[in-house]
Amino acid sequence: MTRKLYLETFGCQMNVLDSQLVLGQLRAQGYESVTDRDQADIILYNTCSVREHAEQKVWSRLGELRPKKAENPNLIIGVIGCMAERDGINIFQKFPHIDILCGPGELDQLATLVHNAAITSAPNRTRQVALMGAAVRRSTTLDAAEDHLEMLDLSRSISPSDDISQAYVRITRGCNKFCTYCVVPYTRGPEVHRPPKNIIEEVQKLVSAGAREVTLLGQTINHYAFNHGDGRTTTFAELLYQIHEATPDLPRLRFVTSFPRDFTNEALMAMRDCPRICRYLHAPAQHGSDRILKLMNRGYTTAQYRDFLSRAREFMPDVSVASDFIVGFPTETEEDFTATMELVQECRFKNSFIFKYSPRPGTTAIDRFKDDIPEETKRRRNNQLLAAQQQASEQFNRELIGHKVEVLVEGESKLVSRRNTTRSNGIELGWEKPKPKITIQLVGRTRGDQIVVFEGHPKMKGQLINLQITSAQSLTLFGQLPTPKTTPILV
Ligand code: 5AD
Ligand code: SF4
Repeated sequence: MTRKLYLETFGCQMNVLDSQLVLGQLRAQGYESVTDRDQADIILYNTCSVREHAEQKVWSRLGELRPKKAENPNLIIGVIGCMAERDGINIFQKFPHIDILCGPGELDQLATLVHNAAITSAPNRTRQVALMGAAVRRSTTLDAAEDHLEMLDLSRSISPSDDISQAYVRITRGCNKFCTYCVVPYTRGPEVHRPPKNIIEEVQKLVSAGAREVTLLGQTINHYAFNHGDGRTTTFAELLYQIHEATPDLPRLRFVTSFPRDFTNEALMAMRDCPRICRYLHAPAQHGSDRILKLMNRGYTTAQYRDFLSRAREFMPDVSVASDFIVGFPTETEEDFTATMELVQECRFKNSFIFKYSPRPGTTAIDRFKDDIPEETKRRRNNQLLAAQQQASEQFNRELIGHKVEVLVEGESKLVSRRNTTRSNGIELGWEKPKPKITIQLVGRTRGDQIVVFEGHPKMKGQLINLQITSAQSLTLFGQLPTPKTTPILV
């Protein structure tokens, strides 16, 4: 009998990928994925710890499960990902009904943990726990032999029901930067770079299965440098060229997230020279004040950030750049905040993800600095920065009005979901009934990561389509299929 699995994912793209890999392994073990939590035999939450808000959502889900577990003691509940690693076994004090705890660095063991939990019934079931050791968590190197997680990526299986048109492939795991506010180095562990051969083979496998866009993932992706152990190193730029060359049938290759320091001209040249690499950079500046950047331990100044940006635009004048910012970092003055506002007004970012500082247990910032910016001030600065970015985004988007863009169609738009069915009254009149023409609001993404809403056919999902941009807002462009004379190019 197949067992039913409900898996909910919170947080970043790395978590989305982890969930896909884990799902593949559990499917091989006979689990079937369901979308209704109430039908599941096993419930897993793949969690995020980056801000408190993300954790609160999971706390409330776990609270809801308390009566369900009392009703059905054989229900298996698991917390996987960053919260499992950050909270560790303390989580059992608050939520004794959890059966499985698995950190992001141990997910290759999850199938075994699930199996062990499933073969014993309550009340004889023992808790299954796999977490990184504290020593590993605080170090910046990981022995190749310890990197058992590579097995998880290598196990990737693609099922015919998977929506494969957009796929993620990890090239590095973990992070060694230790920005003072960030939990990631403690939850995902030291930075590890995957062998180029494994990465290339994975991308090729996805392309053969129908991927139209592959996004390479890494916390500081441009730091990729694989040491072959014989004196040779594959740099990030070399990896980009190699993947591009090895996958001629892949229309779009992109990568996130870039660290603004150490972004080499070679990597920018690879982006410029390889036509199928999208000219899009997500390079979080985090702040506009050098004093705060120092407290954040970011390792660059705003002058270095500006230099990176102007080099990127020198190589690719049409490059689209997105950033992240934190407002309300401890001691942030109005003057510091104004510096962030000025950076946003100056840099022509496509968009910025703006966050209020959230003190995270285990990080340096929570120990070293008092969270002294009142919530009200954080909120005001957040809104002010959002407004400045909105203005910049709108201007950036407006430049595309009247132009043709290529989009990869992601699916039905959540903005407006209007079904436009043209029906004929021919039946009553005795004519042959023409086929109903169905158009819906679809959403696609440009190579520069801009969102375009347009009216099209549901079958366009997963295809690359050329559109004419007709109008623009700060978050969305609106487009239309070219008039029949210039038929759309369905690649
Ligand atoms: N508080 C607020 N924002 C944070 N980020 C990371 N840690 C914190 C924190 N403690 C933001 C950064 C990062 C993005 C993924 O989340 O801007 O780039
Ligand atoms: Fe966190 Fe800094 Fe690493 Fe990004 S670079 S994951 S912000 S520690």
